[in-house]
Amino acid sequence: MKFGHFDDANREYVIETPRTPYPWINYLGTQGFFSLISNTAGGYSFYKDARLRRITRYRYNNVPIDMGGRYFYINDNGTIWNPGWSPVKTELDAYECRHGMGYTIIKGKKNDLKAEVTFFVPQDYDGEVQQVVLTNEGKSDKTFKFWSFAEWCLWDAQDDCTNFQRNFSTGRVEIVGSTIYHKTEYRDRRNHFAFYSVNDKIDGYDTDRDTFIGLYNGFNDPQQVTAGKCGNSLADGWSPIASHYKEITLKAGESKTLVFILGYVEMPQDKKFEADGKTINKEKALAMMEKYNTPEKFAAGMAELRAYWDKLLGIINVNTPEDKVNRMVNIWNQYQCMVTFNLSRSASYFESGIGRGMGFRDSNQDILGFVHQIPDRARERLIDIASTQLPDGGCYHQYQPLTKKGNADIGGDFSDDPLWMILAVAAYIKETGDWSILDEKVPYDNDESKAKSMLDHLTVSFYHIVKNLGPHGLPLAMRADWNDCINLSCFSDTPGESFQTYTNPKFKKEGGYSKVAESVFVAALFTYVGPSFVGILNHLGKKKDAEKAQKEIDKMKKVIMDSAWDGNWFLRAYDANGQKMGSNECEEGKIFIEPQGFAIMSDVGKEQGADKKTLAAIDERLNTQHGLVLNNPAFSKYYIQYGEISTYPGGYKENAGIFTHNNAWIICAAAYAGEGDQAFKYYSEIAPAYTEETSDIHKTEPYVYGQMIGGKDAGSDIGQTGKNFGQGKNSWLTGTAAWNMVAISQYILGIQPDFDGLKVDPSIPASWNGFTATRLFRGAKYNITIKNPSHVCKGVKSMVVDGKAVDGCVVPFVEGKKEVNVEITLG
Ligand code: GLC
Ligand code: GLC
Repeated sequence: MKFGHFDDANREYVIETPRTPYPWINYLGTQGFFSLISNTAGGYSFYKDARLRRITRYRYNNVPIDMGGRYFYINDNGTIWNPGWSPVKTELDAYECRHGMGYTIIKGKKNDLKAEVTFFVPQDYDGEVQQVVLTNEGKSDKTFKFWSFAEWCLWDAQDDCTNFQRNFSTGRVEIVGSTIYHKTEYRDRRNHFAFYSVNDKIDGYDTDRDTFIGLYNGFNDPQQVTAGKCGNSLADGWSPIASHYKEITLKAGESKTLVFILGYVEMPQDKKFEADGKTINKEKALAMMEKYNTPEKFAAGMAELRAYWDKLLGIINVNTPEDKVNRMVNIWNQYQCMVTFNLSRSASYFESGIGRGMGFRDSNQDILGFVHQIPDRARERLIDIASTQLPDGGCYHQYQPLTKKGNADIGGDFSDDPLWMILAVAAYIKETGDWSILDEKVPYDNDESKAKSMLDHLTVSFYHIVKNLGPHGLPLAMRADWNDCINLSCFSDTPGESFQTYTNPKFKKEGGYSKVAESVFVAALFTYVGPSFVGILNHLGKKKDAEKAQKEIDKMKKVIMDSAWDGNWFLRAYDANGQKMGSNECEEGKIFIEPQGFAIMSDVGKEQGADKKTLAAIDERLNTQHGLVLNNPAFSKYYIQYGEISTYPGGYKENAGIFTHNNAWIICAAAYAGEGDQAFKYYSEIAPAYTEETSDIHKTEPYVYGQMIGGKDAGSDIGQTGKNFGQGKNSWLTGTAAWNMVAISQYILGIQPDFDGLKVDPSIPASWNGFTATRLFRGAKYNITIKNPSHVCKGVKSMVVDGKAVDGCVVPFVEGKKEVNVEITLG
């Protein structure tokens, strides 16, 4: 069942009912000011850091769901409604929500009154602009009452929802004309305030929540709205809000347009106040209001936003026989990559914005799907991330975006972290050809005095793995590897201990972690990432260093084959007791997805047919119609030696859920191994556009990936196996976005930036006749045509570049060329 449709020409998803199976959201803003907005206008805004600089309040896990947002209320002679249906939930005569690239349009209609609200965050602007167009579509005059509503958050979102003894007494506002300013703590320790304005005269306002809503009322029946008036209240402590009130009369056919701005302003210390030393200096705020105070200026801002996305989405464009693929690659997957790049795993409808900042491994992986869009921002991000690294190559697992400092509470020692940085820096160089990043001086642990070149960071990253090997010569597992929930040194038996940060005293002598527990995943990732490091060294002419690194990679491959090949697939780990994890010998969790793809792509055991055997085992044991489960069989009890993974009921999250992020590695691996049909099958099982038809089962947005889909074992814990099979969770902020962008564009369609040029080596469904694509790459436009007359999956039979036959499948980079025509015949 569908709840809307794709409008590809406008790059929008059009939601046709407010009762989606879950709130379906969008993100506004790509630079500093961000908003989350659901299809009923729920959500909130923040500046740069969802935890430390929250602008409006939102209550997670509320009843009913998705309460709190920017709401407009209409009281049309006793009929009270919102353009986005919620929170009043009066049945509307018409409803539509269009989520587009950085904007959302919500339209509602009731009793001949139409309200169309467009929300967006303009480029280079710290505010959300909202245009409300009210139209009387009836045959006679209409007089009605209109309110806006936003609830301020007292800046620190964590403190805001816990520290009530203080916060109920600190809230402060200022009202001038049609603008409500939120200035809690501005007088004392903050140099920022927020405001909510409208470009028209108002007939009143409210800034005190209890006056507007009523202590025992809800968002669905604010007492002022019901009474058809306003309280002109001035907040003094308690919960400050911003609500404008206006009485409006429209003639038959007449429209009225109002432009609201929810803005954020920072002021230099010496310019914070007017001469009286206490009134906010509003210079900057007024300039912001001036910028979008007419419908014309609003339209210009929207046009600028559209042009921005035209440009970004003009870099990779494909035309394949599958509309759904085109839609994902050309629009939605890239859009999601921008969002994950900006927000890492901080703020979504599943991430509260206070739990996590920027993840070291997550942000590095996000770059893989984003780097082509704005390489300069990727470069800056790489330097920020690397600056938090420790001199020995270890990493803080997370950092806060506002301070850009490593977060000591979460600590480090996740065994995979350093490797992702090599991969991300290599991806940046491959995309741009900008080798100078390697010479950049980058601090360690944010300490400038410890700065060394980026190349040094890559080197310590690589050798951090080499220096931390266990008894088989495989990398130590430490706190966790990519799978946060495989914690082989934790042995946790006390409630509340975090599996990611608790260090069991049992391993104190060994430095905190078992020196026996080893990760086959990290080993395989090392052999996959390592060659990029070697490629970099070779390019720099450091042949000896390159040979030395290559030896380590070759050694690791051998170790994997000697000690971690289970006969039909690769083991997952050795636990702290030296027992195999992810082996056919195990009772549960016989096979895990994570190491398989990287091992295949590193050609580990290829001569013995390890790649094909592994792919067959994956297809048999992990694949389902909704994607590949993480492990099989699911764990049905707590395995203290494995950690968090077995705390999840079977079929969810890391315990045999469909963790879409690592599905991409198998898609890549199948494509790499020439199995284009298999790769495409897995791709289409999870790609959002393909889940649209079953939105009632899938629940989350059909235009973006979620982190997890219930696996075939979902429900097994309650004896109803299959109950939530196919049900998505944790949409938006997931490494799945970047990795599936890589999987489809670089592995299946095969257009892959390489150090020396653009490689084109597709691995597609055999039934395809081919496809075309354009790719902007290092200043030139590549027009690519793939022909598949013999209906194979993979194999470049011939390549013609600008009319000349070229061997192989890498289009050599020629400086200064503006357009390159590439024609490839598979066979
Ligand atoms: C989440 C985390 C990511 C981790 C994955 C598997 O997606 O953000 O860092 O790799 O879970 O545990
Ligand atoms: C990842 C996992 C989640 C785990 C968390 C810990 O997001 O998906 O299950 O609890 O990491 O940080």
